Amino acid sequence: MPVDFVTSVFLDGPQVIPYWDRIKEYAPVVVPILASIGVAKYYFRGVTNTWERDMHGKVYMITGGTSGIGATIAFELATKGAQIILLTRKTRDLWLAEYIEDMRDRTSNPLIYAEECDLNSLYSVRQFVTKWLDNVPPRRLDGVICCAAESIPRNSQRQITIDGVERQIGVNYLAHYHLLTLLQPSLQVQPPDRDVRVLIATCSSQSLGELDLQDLIWENKRFPKEQPWKLYGSSKLLLCLFAKHFQKELMAYERKDQAPCNIRINMVNPGLVRTPSMRRFISMGTIWGLILYLIMWPFWWICLKSCSQGAQTFFFGLYSPILMKMDGGLVLQECKILGSMARKEYSDEELQKEVFQKTQELIKKLEVQSAVERKKNKTKEELEKEKNAKLKKEKDLSIQPRSTKELEQKLNTLRDQIGITNKSSLLPSDGVEELPLFPDKEALKTAKEISGGGQNKELNSASSKKSNNSSTSSKQKNKKKT
Ligand SMILES: NC(=O)c1ccc[n+]([C@@H]2O[C@H](COP(=O)([O-])OP(=O)(O)OC[C@H]3O[C@@H](n4cnc5c(N)ncnc54)[C@H](OP(=O)(O)O)[C@@H]3O)[C@@H](O)[C@H]2O)c1
Repeated sequence: MPVDFVTSVFLDGPQVIPYWDRIKEYAPVVVPILASIGVAKYYFRGVTNTWERDMHGKVYMITGGTSGIGATIAFELATKGAQIILLTRKTRDLWLAEYIEDMRDRTSNPLIYAEECDLNSLYSVRQFVTKWLDNVPPRRLDGVICCAAESIPRNSQRQITIDGVERQIGVNYLAHYHLLTLLQPSLQVQPPDRDVRVLIATCSSQSLGELDLQDLIWENKRFPKEQPWKLYGSSKLLLCLFAKHFQKELMAYERKDQAPCNIRINMVNPGLVRTPSMRRFISMGTIWGLILYLIMWPFWWICLKSCSQGAQTFFFGLYSPILMKMDGGLVLQECKILGSMARKEYSDEELQKEVFQKTQELIKKLEVQSAVERKKNKTKEELEKEKNAKLKKEKDLSIQPRSTKELEQKLNTLRDQIGITNKSSLLPSDGVEELPLFPDKEALKTAKEISGGGQNKELNSASSKKSNNSSTSSKQKNKKKT
């Protein structure tokens, strides 16, 4: 059929094409538009990685592996047979369990796990790494991919991490700094024939970042509500400076086997990608912004990369053999190594060292502060726990009450259980001290001394009633026996 149609167009002319007149009329407008869209889409999709590498059995840690670019990287590596450890905020999460289950099914790879490492808290990062380093013998680790990030939309209030640091700086910079420096022994202990690659996601917005050595993590500066990307950019700039110096420290380390350093840390700029954080950023976190984003969807579809296109430079960083022959601390973009960076900080090694050391001190200080805070909160928590346990015991019907108050509480529990709403009190009237439910001789004597005759009579009559009751019950028992 298509052959017939093409032949008739060829022999009889284009007028045999249905609606040919309409096509002739609109084609001069429509064709250039479609061609421009095609060219733009092709241009914005970026470069595709062409390197391949066998990833079977390799072990990778990924932060931010549950969304956007990080999720795409995790999926690709799992498909290639690598073991994936997703570092997530929390692990007791139904959604996460289903996500991992689904990923295992789709990649036919059961070696996908999640570990709790909340980047909002330096303590959580330390807890995770301590657990990891505690493994004997040391676990295999072929690389760490740092994709997690927070980007706060415009006009939002300043948000902070558990340690009280501005959230973008805390999650994007401090937490990753802490994670990688704590993991240093695990990275260094890997055998010399293993390529250990660390990739850190960066962004062009680092050119907007500000570097102030007196206030590195924006503790004292005003939060720029109208330009929160300044902090996002600063966090990425700090990350790059850290990576450059950290690479030098790793290179300077002398291995016991005298083998050269097999760890490379590089930064990856994925370009502009359609991810949840990008959507939040464009829509400014508002419902109107979201509606506008959806209306303009065709535009974003053309101009922004898909997650898979955004992940290409990460694959280049993981697979390309060239990178292991270089010194690390490089910025990768569009599957290439960026020759030079616009900011002068990238060539200032002294400054990089200073930033590295200052951050180390800051983290130490923050960890101590948070430990004190945790201790305070723990005491509060413990008090609450104790109170709840006591209340539970008082209401427990299987435990014998030790006072009238306890008996009343148990009776009320029983009344609640069988639906009685009238709760008359057993407690003595105001001003009279409460006596034990089954007073012993000592208690009776003290009660006598305190309240004089009146109450004693009651007690005496109560105890005589009790003895009467016990005598009648013993009589009844004797009767039954006869
Ligand atoms: N998208 C772009 O256009 C673009 C451009 C340049 C650079 N980048 C960089 O590329 C990386 C990936 O970006 P993306 O857009 O794909 O991000 P995304 O889709 O927004 O995902 C961010 C990830 O970070 C995780 N995360 C956030 N806070 C965390 C915390 N406290 N603890 C643990 N995990 C946390 C999130 O986990 P939850 O799912 O639990 O929230 C999520 O998995 C980022 O570093 C970003 O800066 C992106």
